[in-house]
Amino acid sequence: MELYYTKRPFLLFLSFTLLLVASTRADPDSLQDLCVADLGATSVVVNGFPCKPASNVTSDDFFFAGLSMEGNTSNIFASNVTAANVLSFPGLNTLGVSMNRVDVAPGGLNPPHSHPRATELIILLKGRLLVGFISTSNQFFSKVLNPGEMFVVPKGLIHFQYNVGDKKAFAITTFDSQLPGVVIASTTLFGSTPAIPDDVLAKAFQVDQKVVTAIKSKFER
Ligand code: GLV
Ligand code: MN
Repeated sequence: MELYYTKRPFLLFLSFTLLLVASTRADPDSLQDLCVADLGATSVVVNGFPCKPASNVTSDDFFFAGLSMEGNTSNIFASNVTAANVLSFPGLNTLGVSMNRVDVAPGGLNPPHSHPRATELIILLKGRLLVGFISTSNQFFSKVLNPGEMFVVPKGLIHFQYNVGDKKAFAITTFDSQLPGVVIASTTLFGSTPAIPDDVLAKAFQVDQKVVTAIKSKFER
């Protein structure tokens, strides 16, 4: 009892630190060397994906060529994100990492979005990109990146990349999650299924409902 009281501040500090570490961890550590995702498994439901039988695993499960090809930027944002996450690259299952390739045409934008499950590191390989995020205290942090330069976006915060150069830009982004998830602000609010009521959006953005209808028409699926 005596010991408990003398050590109490230390124990409290320790529990607080452990709580903090637990709450800031990304994907959980894996418990085996490999667990290539069996994306088609329907009978088992786990947090992630079950492993395919080890006897069926080959070198191909740890290889992905999808980021070697330029993405098609012929769309309203003039940008394209190619994902190498557990869904496209099942060998990443349980490993806690993933990558994207981001291609942005001159004047194009990878629109404001957030990743609920990951911090993002971006390295620019070609072109010039204005990158930025907004903190929960509404502060905007940004930089113009040149090739070889990096920027980090803390987990869950809204961010974007905008091509401010006169050539195509190409970046690689990395995440501390096998499936970071993405919430694109404009398409989430104005293109959801079913749609968010117009008056909710009109009130939220302090605009007329006609403005809401006009924006929705751009994102309707
Ligand atoms: C860029 O922000 C990305 O999510 O790949
Ligand atoms: Mn992102």
